[in-house]
Amino acid sequence: MTKATASRTQLPEWQALEAHAQTLSGTHLRDLFDRDDQRFDKFSLALPHFLFDYSKNRITEETRDKLFALAKAVDVEGWRDKMFAGEKINRTEDRAVLHVALRDPSDEPLVIDGTDVRPEVQRELGRMRDLVERVRGGQWRGYSDKAITDVVSIGIGGSNLGPLMVTEALSAHADGSLNVHYVSNIDGSQIADTLKRLNAETTLFVVSSKTFTTLETMTNAKTARQWFMDNGGSESTTNRHFIAVSSNIEKAVEFGVDEDNIFAMWDWVGGRFSLWSAIGLPIALNLGFEAFEDLLAGANEMDRHFVEAPLAENAPMLLALLGVWNRNFLGYRAHALLPYDQSMHRFPAYMQQAEMESNGKSVNWAGERLSYGSCPLIWGEVGINGQHAFYQMLHQGTDIIPADFIGSITSSNTMPGHHDALMANFFAQTEAMMRGIDADQVRAELKSKGMDDAHIEAIVEHKVHPGNRPTNTLLLHKLDARTLGALIALYEHKIFVQGIIWQVHSFDQWGVELGKVLAAGIIPELEEGKSNPGHDASTRNLINYYCQNK
Ligand code: F6P
Repeated sequence: MTKATASRTQLPEWQALEAHAQTLSGTHLRDLFDRDDQRFDKFSLALPHFLFDYSKNRITEETRDKLFALAKAVDVEGWRDKMFAGEKINRTEDRAVLHVALRDPSDEPLVIDGTDVRPEVQRELGRMRDLVERVRGGQWRGYSDKAITDVVSIGIGGSNLGPLMVTEALSAHADGSLNVHYVSNIDGSQIADTLKRLNAETTLFVVSSKTFTTLETMTNAKTARQWFMDNGGSESTTNRHFIAVSSNIEKAVEFGVDEDNIFAMWDWVGGRFSLWSAIGLPIALNLGFEAFEDLLAGANEMDRHFVEAPLAENAPMLLALLGVWNRNFLGYRAHALLPYDQSMHRFPAYMQQAEMESNGKSVNWAGERLSYGSCPLIWGEVGINGQHAFYQMLHQGTDIIPADFIGSITSSNTMPGHHDALMANFFAQTEAMMRGIDADQVRAELKSKGMDDAHIEAIVEHKVHPGNRPTNTLLLHKLDARTLGALIALYEHKIFVQGIIWQVHSFDQWGVELGKVLAAGIIPELEEGKSNPGHDASTRNLINYYCQNK
């Protein structure tokens, strides 16, 4: 993106929001609801796959208008159009940002560096379909001519979290024809645990790494290859058991993957936005190619909505602007993602990478230090479990943590008596966070239970829930591939919009490099059993203690 012209804080639209936040500081969310019985209608959107209720935010119509004015002032829509047109908006890496092209069935040319990417995308999708059908249909045979029963996906970060999250989220839709396992950790326990349950004759490895140099992935891939060799495999049969997804074909071939088994990735797809590419192969292997196409179609629907819907009805814009409001004008430094669906248990981790690796930056496009906060801490857990763990802090802690609650009208399972109980909690929690309960209400409640006044006064303040804690609710019709595709794309575009407003380069990730470089230097020290004197005293002594005691 271009040189920053002025800090965002100098914009009149930014300053108007700051002043406006002051005027709202004494207003409680419950007052906003009590004053206006149209509030839900004003602050919710019904989209094809879900209802988005954002009325439990500390906003008024004036707030929303001012947020739209900020979006206009920083030309979010112009930047969005540049992204979709394939402009190289990832300036620090000189790359286009085109994960949206991976799910766009259009054949209108989209030329990047002299190449129309549309046919390439379609070609790789065709190859994926072919592989998926052959493996799932039993035509792809292992070295002893048996059909494949298990797929092990080896990758980390963006080459793991997306496929893993989607596989889990859509597990109710899997037909069980293939078991898919994920290995990401360089801690050998994960791959050891996975391999001990498998038979090399019927196992297919998918090594996913955009760079094909990532230490964790390469270490696990080598271990997988050795296991394959130790269990009846051979050089000549590796091609029946190893697939690679990478933009570094040379390295994948050098590792020993047959060129015909390498699926392409492009530099215009960031790792954390890559599940729509062949990085999504394990999803398609698990669910079938049609389900993968549904996932793409759902995301494409959201892309079109993002491009076409006016600001006031544009879900990604609204979600992003509310996040900016909470972060920069109300001062909240964390944001929780709370799915009320067991199968979405990896969704917070996936979004944590997507948001924090994208917008966890502290210099603007011109390389100047930001004078305002960028990405908040994104964290979360399956909501119902969280209720019995950290919700105490969400309700009564000193920090206010806005949260997105995600649940479905239709359950993915048929267990009687479970879903309404789950969803009752879902609705109760956002109501409690919004409304709270004040001292008089607590007193009245305790009195009605017969408690004496002295006892009541001793505990009343401890039972007060201040409320006024913002939440968004995303109520899905049902969690299927299309809906999940749309939901992920919703958050991807939220990240994009926030990056523009914060004026950070959302599509690089230089902040992960330093640790990797230092780790590469420490490996030989651990092998030699002695630390390099160049380390600080803490690191040096920790390494030596480790070496002396291992
Ligand atoms: O360390 C961060 C990161 O570079 C992510 O951005 C990326 O998704 C992940 O590592 C994996 O990288 P690769 O696909 O090249 O193995």
